[in-house]
Amino acid sequence: MSRQEKPYYAPDGLRACTTAVATEPPSRGSGLPHSSAMESSLLPESTRAVFIAGTDTGIGKTHAACTLLHALHAAGYRAGGMKPVASGCVATAEGLRNDDALALQAASSTPPPYALVNPLALSEPLSPHLAAAHAGVTIGLPPLRAAFEQLGGRYQRVVVEGVGGWMVPLAPGLLAADLARQWRLPVILVVGLRLGCLSHALLSARAIIADGCTLLGWIGNHIDPAMLAVDENIATLGELLPAPCLGLLPHGEAPVRAAARLGAAVSAF
Ligand SMILES: Nc1ncnc2c1ncn2[C@@H]1O[C@H](COP(=O)(O)OP(=O)(O)OP(=O)(O)O)[C@@H](O)[C@H]1O
Ligand SMILES: [Mg+2]
Repeated sequence: MSRQEKPYYAPDGLRACTTAVATEPPSRGSGLPHSSAMESSLLPESTRAVFIAGTDTGIGKTHAACTLLHALHAAGYRAGGMKPVASGCVATAEGLRNDDALALQAASSTPPPYALVNPLALSEPLSPHLAAAHAGVTIGLPPLRAAFEQLGGRYQRVVVEGVGGWMVPLAPGLLAADLARQWRLPVILVVGLRLGCLSHALLSARAIIADGCTLLGWIGNHIDPAMLAVDENIATLGELLPAPCLGLLPHGEAPVRAAARLGAAVSAF
């Protein structure tokens, strides 16, 4: 059975819902144009990129993305990280700077200029559409795409961190999900392992697939060292998510040390 045909959510007693991956993006939701207007071949043929989505904000997308960058270096790839849109930035002499973007920049092979890692930096720690409105700007994809393409010219692998959860608004008619949709990026979902993560993970996976994106798999990140029944929760995620587990990241292990745990993620894209 192919990934597309795998029953998406079929515990005993519940009707299976088949994950029909759309050949066209859905007509509702993001408000973006359909596939005829979508981006194509943004990257050189030998370059691959992945979108790191998360079950929520603050669950370890940056941690997992930096760990994946180290894993890619260890596998022999030149790899670069990107945080296309970042809110909650600090004013410096060089301009606005964001901790996630700085971490991704530092974890990249031959760190690229900050403006390529984070082409849109917003100062207020709000949802991007609100931070942008407060800054008097409207978020649009073209400058983000230009930076993404330049990174694609520098690296063999590009790791793009999302913003918050899958459906965070960026602008009227534009969601964080549309970065992955428009740039045709396969998705790895980081599940922040804590109480409530099962529903967040299943909802996120359902939305990613409904948006026509390929869900490569998920990474379990031990964000809460006090979580109860961790192994049972991980087993439940394994049973119910429609894509494989690509690694588990322990609590408190630095990305460079945890990199060896993401071999499956390196092989997935
Ligand atoms: N495995 C872990 N062990 C210990 N601390 C972790 C782990 N994963 C993440 N953290 C910490 O939790 C916080 C949130 O993690 P991170 O910044 O990676 O989340 P995020 O999903 O990228 O958040 P955002 O939505 O703001 O981008 C950070 O302080 C990070 O250092
Ligand atoms: Mg982050």
